[in-house]
Amino acid sequence: MAESFELNSRISNSSEVRLFRAPGRVNLIGEHTDYNDGFVMPAAIDFCTWVKVSPRPDRMVSVFSWNFKELVEFSLDDSALAPRGHWSDYVTGVAVTLDRAGLKLRGADLEIRGTVPIGAGLSSSASIEVATGLALLANSAYAVNPVELARLCQSAENDFVGMRCGIMDQFISCHGQEGKALLLDCRSLEFKHLPLSADVRLLICNTMVKHELAGSEYNQRRAVCEAGVQHLAQRIPGVRALRDVTERDLELHASELPELVYRRCRHVISENTRVQKAAVALEQGDLDSLGTLMNESHLSLRDDYEVSCAELDLMVELARPLPGVFGARMTGGGFGGCTINLVKAAHTDEFRSTLTQRYLKVAGVTPEIYVSGAAAAAGEAIQ
Ligand code: GLA
Repeated sequence: MAESFELNSRISNSSEVRLFRAPGRVNLIGEHTDYNDGFVMPAAIDFCTWVKVSPRPDRMVSVFSWNFKELVEFSLDDSALAPRGHWSDYVTGVAVTLDRAGLKLRGADLEIRGTVPIGAGLSSSASIEVATGLALLANSAYAVNPVELARLCQSAENDFVGMRCGIMDQFISCHGQEGKALLLDCRSLEFKHLPLSADVRLLICNTMVKHELAGSEYNQRRAVCEAGVQHLAQRIPGVRALRDVTERDLELHASELPELVYRRCRHVISENTRVQKAAVALEQGDLDSLGTLMNESHLSLRDDYEVSCAELDLMVELARPLPGVFGARMTGGGFGGCTINLVKAAHTDEFRSTLTQRYLKVAGVTPEIYVSGAAAAAGEAIQ
C-alpha cells in the first residue's frame, strides 16, 4: 500500500521526509467494555492511514488530506484551536494534545491518505490519530512508547474531539501483531496476543450505513454506565467500575436500579465474562464456542445495550446459517458500520457471494465484504 501513497505524494522526498502507517481495527468480542475498565479482543486490520511528514522552520502544521482533497493549516501556538466537526479535528487534536503534554513539536507539513472506510466502525479515527502522532513525534525527534502513544491519542479524542471513547482502538493500532488477536485488560493495560487459526478468516461485512449517531449515543451510554457504578458502589464494597461487579451482585441489586440502567450494566458485565471465555476458547482452538459467544454478544448489544440497528441485525441473521460460519456480530460502537464474522477459510468465497446477494435483496444496498488478516502495529514505513 505504500506504493500507492507515493503515486499521489506532494511532499518531495528528502532525507527529512518520513512515512508512517497505523492500522484500523476490528473487534472480535468485548464491545462497550473498554471504558468500563473491562476486557476487549480486537485485531488490527489491513486497512490503514498513511502520514507523510517533513519538518518546517516555524510552528505551523499544514495538513493535506488525499481522501478529502483539502488543505488545512494551523499554528501550534494558537491557544484558540477548537474542534469544528471536520476530518482535521483528529490531526489538530493530536498535535495540541502532544504539545500540551510537554512534547513541544516542530512545525510540520503532513500528507494523509487512508484506506480505512470512514464511518464504518473500523476505527478510521484512531488510525489517523496514531499515524499523525507517530509522524509528529518523529518529526520532533521524540520517541514515545506505544502505550503512552495510545493514551495520548485517546486523550486527543476525549478532550479535543469530544468523543469519550475508551482506549481499545488506539491501543490495538499501536499493538497489533500479524496473525494475532489481542486480549486487553483495559484497566491494567496488560495484554496478550492470541494466534488466530489458519483455518478461519475474519470477514468484515459493511452494512453501508454510516454510524452517524454514534458520537452522541455513545457518550450517553457511557454516562448511564457511570450512573450504574455510582449506585452500585454505594452498596458493594470495592466497586470502581462495572468491571468490579459480578453478574450475581448485579442481580442482587437489580430491583434498585432503573430498568434501563440495569440492562446497560447487564450487557457490560456479561460481555466481560464472554471476552474471558472467548480468550480460553481461542487458545484451545474451540472455534464453535468462540462463535457462540460472538452470537451472544450481538444479542446483548441489540437487546440490552441497544446499539445495533436493523441493517446490522439483518447482516448477522443472514450470515449465521451460511456454511462455515462459526459466529457473527456487530463490531465497534454500533448504529451502523460493520459486522465481524468468523468463517472457515474454505467457505470464504461462497460466504461473500451469497451474503452479498441476500443482503442486497432485502436491504436494497450492495454491502462491501472485506477479508482481513490480523495486521501488524503502527510504525514507520519504508518509502
Ligand atoms: C468505539 C470506541 C471504543 C469502544 C467501541 C465499543 O470504537 O472508540 O473505545 O468503546 O466503540 O466497544
